[in-house]
Amino acid sequence: MKRNASCGRLTPGDQGKEVCVAGWVNARRDLGGLIFVELRDRSGKVQLVADPNRNKDVHEKFFTLRNEFVLIAQGKISQRPEGTEKLDQPTGLIEIYPDQVEILNTSRPLPFQLELGQQVDESLRLKYRYLDLRRREMQRNLILRHRITTAVRNYLDSQHFLDIETPILCKATPEGARDFLVPSRLNPGTWYALPQSPQLFKQTLMVSGMERYYQIARCFRDEDLRADRQPEFTQIDIEMSFASEEDIFEISEGLLREAFRAAGVDLEPPFPRLTYKEVLDRFGSDKPDMRFGLEIRDLSEVAGRCQFRVFKEAVEKGGCLKALTLQGMAEKSSRKQLDTWQELAKGFGAKGLAWLSFKSDGVKSSGIDKFLSPDEIEAMRQLAQAETGDLVLLVADTYKVVVNTLGRLRLKLAEELDLIDTSKHALLWVVDFPLFEYNEDEKRLEAVHHPFTSPRLEDLDSLAAHPERVRARAYDIVYNGVEIGGGSIRIHSKDVQSRVFSVIGLTAETAFEKFGFLLEALESGAPPHGGIAFGLDRLVMLLAGCKSIRDVIAFPKTQSGACLLTDAPSAAPDEQLKELHLQHVGLEPSKQPRSADDEARPSNKAKAATVES
Ligand code: AMO
Ligand code: AMP
Repeated sequence: MKRNASCGRLTPGDQGKEVCVAGWVNARRDLGGLIFVELRDRSGKVQLVADPNRNKDVHEKFFTLRNEFVLIAQGKISQRPEGTEKLDQPTGLIEIYPDQVEILNTSRPLPFQLELGQQVDESLRLKYRYLDLRRREMQRNLILRHRITTAVRNYLDSQHFLDIETPILCKATPEGARDFLVPSRLNPGTWYALPQSPQLFKQTLMVSGMERYYQIARCFRDEDLRADRQPEFTQIDIEMSFASEEDIFEISEGLLREAFRAAGVDLEPPFPRLTYKEVLDRFGSDKPDMRFGLEIRDLSEVAGRCQFRVFKEAVEKGGCLKALTLQGMAEKSSRKQLDTWQELAKGFGAKGLAWLSFKSDGVKSSGIDKFLSPDEIEAMRQLAQAETGDLVLLVADTYKVVVNTLGRLRLKLAEELDLIDTSKHALLWVVDFPLFEYNEDEKRLEAVHHPFTSPRLEDLDSLAAHPERVRARAYDIVYNGVEIGGGSIRIHSKDVQSRVFSVIGLTAETAFEKFGFLLEALESGAPPHGGIAFGLDRLVMLLAGCKSIRDVIAFPKTQSGACLLTDAPSAAPDEQLKELHLQHVGLEPSKQPRSADDEARPSNKAKAATVES
């Protein structure tokens, strides 16, 4: 028997055809006489029927089948008898009575029922990932990922980009996260770093005259993990010579249009461009979700002249008063709800959350109206753009605290009050980032993006005296509130590069030790260049409608960086360590190298489930 058809692609039009299908037993129903088997392959499912009166041998084999046995079967496609059709299934009108079958393999009982899908403890799904990936939903995600990368490759090829691989064993690249290190056996005492991104190599390729580079590149960052972060993840990495911001935007928009089209979504670039300042002011975030309004409004002008001490003092100290206006919520919000929101706001760093409720029978408040004149309340209402029936939530503090609190509250409220239009695909560029930001822990300035990002030319003069005022030629692209990409026009002059290093406290020697090769390359005819990198996993996650990037990565890691399938990371034998000139000092390798808070580790419950089944 040789397989010549895919289960899910058979149609009523194939009736009468003799086909040979192969796959896994998805379900088996024994009705005493007839035995029905749902056979599944990557394309879908088809029903096989064994009738003891038609073919005894086939019926006997079907009798021994269990879920997930592997089967090949040959037979004629026939129409299902009237009344037994399943109109909701793609192959629900047909079935096959095989005249020949072979059981290619058996399967032990499963540790979880595949059809329970996301309800199964994630640790169990990760431990038996090969089973989890048999599920339709996971296959759909990986197929979508493939479609998107194929569309991206085709698009970039059509735009004359070259796919060039860069090393995995390399020198530290500065993207701000911790490096993964690999000891060198041949060079005792030295280490490779795994690339946090191909940043330095792609810039070097521009100096080499490759002009347009791309790579679907694996990146490694040893940072604390979240639902949209993995220690190894994939970027669509791009670099272009002689490119301005406009050129990068155009290529990126074209690329995203193709990627979205592969997922069945039509985009209409160009996407709006907002400055960093504007998105913070209006949405309280540098990655605003613009599928809904609920914009932040500034009330500082009234706050500064009112008699409510908290508001007045905040403004006098250089801070501000800002508000969120919830339409039609004056009557609908309960005390309890307001208290919960206040606790949320405090959790986000605010000292309190005041409110003004413009009810039809007058203004109610969190006790602040006694400090405010009717004129001031009216002025606040106007600045907050509130009407009768609306509720205004207020926070006064430093700009940073106010904006951060209201930005996070905005997202929570939108979710709670169901304000998000989930049919929207809201993309935007965020531009004009500051080049540096102050790192409170290290008490020094650091690069917001990375130190190869070019300052805006008109800000160059401020580099030494007022570095915090210098704007970067950097841009992020945000999709539905998630940063899916970022990049910049790079520094291509050694002089500017050295000056930027000096602002972030890198001495000439350290800079040379770390990136000497790049500095030398910049002096050797480096063309002006710039680029961008998209987070492929995040993009696919959003387009697949998943909540976690783990669901669009075939073999992801848990919260503590473990691979539950292979049990990595694991201890290394002493000989191996010796070869690598390594020795444990004090610390014995942990048998349980993962932390207790590892969300996706098999819990006892999960283990019990394994044993039971
Ligand atoms: P950046 O660090 O912004 O830029 O990374 C680009 C994009 O990669 C995605 N991303 C991640 N995805 C999953 N898990 C992670 N741990 C993770 N970290 C980042 C994000 C992000 O927008 N070299 C520069 C790009 C450039 O300047 O060209 C860079 O790596 O979606
Ligand atoms: P109090 O005078 O402390 O009773 O506060 C009166 C109201 O102002 C309460 O609703 C507080 O939550 C609120 N509040 C206190 N501090 C702030 C602040 N920094 N910003 C906004 N509201 C505040």
